[in-house]
Amino acid sequence: MARRRVGIITAGGDAPGMNAAVRAVVRTGIFHGFEMVGFKRAFGGLLDGDYINMDARSVSGIINLGGTILRTGRCPELKTEVGRKKAIKILSDLNIDSLVIIGGDGSLAAGNALHKEGIKVINLPATIDNDIYGTEECIGYDTALNTAVDAIDKIRDTAKSHDRIFVVEIMGRHHGFLTLAVGVAAGAEVIIVPEVKPNMEELCDNFRRASNSGKKSLIVAYAEGCGSSIDFAREVEEKTGLEVRVSNLGYIQRGGVPTARERILASWFGAYATKLLKEEKTGLFVGYQKGNIVATPFEEVCGKQIEFDGEMYKLIQRISI
Ligand code: F6P
Repeated sequence: MARRRVGIITAGGDAPGMNAAVRAVVRTGIFHGFEMVGFKRAFGGLLDGDYINMDARSVSGIINLGGTILRTGRCPELKTEVGRKKAIKILSDLNIDSLVIIGGDGSLAAGNALHKEGIKVINLPATIDNDIYGTEECIGYDTALNTAVDAIDKIRDTAKSHDRIFVVEIMGRHHGFLTLAVGVAAGAEVIIVPEVKPNMEELCDNFRRASNSGKKSLIVAYAEGCGSSIDFAREVEEKTGLEVRVSNLGYIQRGGVPTARERILASWFGAYATKLLKEEKTGLFVGYQKGNIVATPFEEVCGKQIEFDGEMYKLIQRISI
C-alpha cells in the first residue's frame, strides 16, 4: 500500500530553530510511516511544484543551523482563491494530503485557508516577534532574544565610555514582545513599544534628571513597530541637548546558531505535529502553554491578539532607576 505523503513548508521570516523543527518533523514522520516531502521557498515553491523528497539522512547535521534549509518567502498569490485552488491541485497531483507549516501569523492564515479547502494541516509557530496567539513561545524567539541582549551588552560598553544615550532598535513588526523581554534582560533604562504611547516631555525630563544626577549613559530598547528610531533619537537630542546615538540591530536578530532551548522546543513541536497527523487530527496550531505542548483549533487562534504584559512593563520602570 502506498504510504501517506506529508509536505513540510517553512514560511514567512526565517527564524533560528526552523531547521531543528524540520528535522523533527521529517524523522518522526518517517517513524509514523509517512513519506516526507519538503517544499522549497515556502508557498512559492508549492505553487511551482518545487519540492524534494526527504529521508532521514536529508536532515542530518542541521539541528545547529540558523535559517531554513528549505528556504522561505512570502507569497501573496496564496491569499487569492486562484492561488489556493492551484495549491490544492498540485498537492493532489503529488498525492500529498497533509501539510506541516512552520511560520508566523501569515503562515497560520495560509494554513487555515488550506485546511478549509480539505487539506490536513498542522501549523507550528516560528517567528522571532513571538506574537502568535496560542503559544507562550515561538521558534526563533529565544535565540533572537539572546542575540539582542548580547548586542546590547556590547553597546553599553561604548555608551558608558562616551556618556551617551543609545536608542537600540529591536525587530517586531507590529508588537513589542521581543523588545520588552530584551529590555528586561539587558537592563535597558527605557522601553518604547507600540502598545504604550510614550510621553515625550516626561521622558525627556527623566533623561535630563538622570544626567544631572550622574547617570550619563542610558539604553532605550526601541521596538521597530514604533516607527523611525532615528526621528525618535533626534527629538530626544533636540529636547534634552544630550548626545544620542541609534543602533538598529536589524537582521542579525533573525540569524545565528539556535540556542539549546530553541532546539528542544522545535524538536517537541515537530514531533507533536506528526503525532497529530498520525491520529488523523487536523486544523490545529501547536503551541507551548504552561510547560506543555498543546494543540488548539485554528478557529480559536486565528486573528486573535496576545495581551501585552503590563506587569513586565512596570517592572522595567521599577528596576531601571
Ligand atoms: O516577522 C519577523 C520579522 O523579522 C519582523 O520582525 C520584521 O518586521 C519582518 O520580519 C521583516 O520582514 P522581511 O524579511 O520581509 O524584511
